[in-house]
Amino acid sequence: MNALKISIIVGSVRPNRMGLRVGKYLAAQLAQQGVKQVHLIDPAPLNIPLLVNRYDSLTDAEKTPELQELHAKIAESDAYIVVSPEYNHSYSPIITNVMDYFYHNEYYFKSAGIVTYSMGAFGGVRAAGPIRPFLGQMGLTSIPQTLAVPVVQSLLGEDGELLDSATSATLASNTSKFLSELTWFADALKTAREKSRP
Ligand SMILES: Cc1cc2nc3c(=O)[nH]c(=O)nc-3n(C[C@H](O)[C@H](O)[C@H](O)COP(=O)(O)O)c2cc1C
Repeated sequence: MNALKISIIVGSVRPNRMGLRVGKYLAAQLAQQGVKQVHLIDPAPLNIPLLVNRYDSLTDAEKTPELQELHAKIAESDAYIVVSPEYNHSYSPIITNVMDYFYHNEYYFKSAGIVTYSMGAFGGVRAAGPIRPFLGQMGLTSIPQTLAVPVVQSLLGEDGELLDSATSATLASNTSKFLSELTWFADALKTAREKSRP
């Protein structure tokens, strides 16, 4: 079993959103690759307020139990998978609203993978570009591969199960390569962090 802890951050809170399907699918695929400690971070039930300040600048009263739980999961993670829909040719503000609560301490010298999706043919790829500099500024090393899920409603069911579709084998293969790369980087950086920090 792999000792890595990985958080999957779902970038949508819309009713009947597709994002949760992608998050659940990735959680199951990570488990298949031996990563058992996965936090599927769904911002909807956490009821995360619109950002008014970073977590460490909030008063104790403002640190709701949900925010405290989010903080604990983010802080202990070795890597993050950011799952974003394409909203207006960019990434989802839900990602920013979750991740902006935390800064260097939680993220520095860790890795991140970018997953995008859409109900159209392009898999939300236009969201991926702007996410990368955002992750870099957080102190995260984003892995070279990105994973795009096109026509998500035909590829994944409500529980994140892979549906029978002309492109399901492609998604499975792309996901496997993407997660292998992410866990490789996460492992390498974890080992390096344990040795020293600059
Ligand atoms: C505010 C908004 C903006 C969108 N902009 C785009 C877009 O630029 N490109 C695209 O392919 N789809 C766009 N879509 C369609 C989404 O990709 C599609 O609705 C997807 O299911 C959204 O993810 P969600 O269901 O998890 O919220 C947009 C949807 C919304 C709600």
